[in-house]
Amino acid sequence: MTKKELLAGLEQEMIGDSSLPLQESRLVFGEGNADAEVLFIGEAPGFHEDRLGRPFVGRGGELLTECIKSIGWHREQVYITNIVKRRPPENRDPLPEEIEVYKPYLARQIEIISPRIIVPLGRFAMNYFLPDAKISRDQGKTFIVDDKKIVPMFHPAAALRGTTVLNQFKETFAKLPAIVSGEVEVIKPEVAQTKKSSEEDAPQVSLF
Ligand code: URA
Repeated sequence: MTKKELLAGLEQEMIGDSSLPLQESRLVFGEGNADAEVLFIGEAPGFHEDRLGRPFVGRGGELLTECIKSIGWHREQVYITNIVKRRPPENRDPLPEEIEVYKPYLARQIEIISPRIIVPLGRFAMNYFLPDAKISRDQGKTFIVDDKKIVPMFHPAAALRGTTVLNQFKETFAKLPAIVSGEVEVIKPEVAQTKKSSEEDAPQVSLF
């Protein structure tokens, strides 16, 4: 089976899973290239995403799409999804228990796509990979978790609220091509805790 077929199967499974919370809104599975090297992961669909069944199609999505184009890429060449795949009412933050229930599906989606670089947008997606990271401190850094490069960025909605965050968002975006081609140099090795290290007390992973 192709990755595209596997993703379609996973989507059908999610649609049929009535134990998933937020059933009153539609499932926004994600979209893009099933063979993408780069995977963007947001928080949860909002009003526009719920209406169209596509991720990041509101104002935040416009910014994301514009930034993808600004580095010479196309939205169709990457994959875009969310950690929680149904819209929380009134666009409230997803609850920890909602995130927990959606996590295994995100893990399977990542396993199928198998991207080299994952860009979590905002703290909810970032904390899935890096439970102890802080978005304002760690956005723009490149972490290695389970052999994948994790590059946390501010959520586009946060970037739309202020010039400082917007500029940092754009700066991090501009670094993505170099990160993909492995040109980002290790300046100062640090350490970061991964899910594994916090849960199992395993050695900490490296942070570029
Ligand atoms: N915000 C998100 O986190 N995801 C979307 O798809 C849209 C807005």
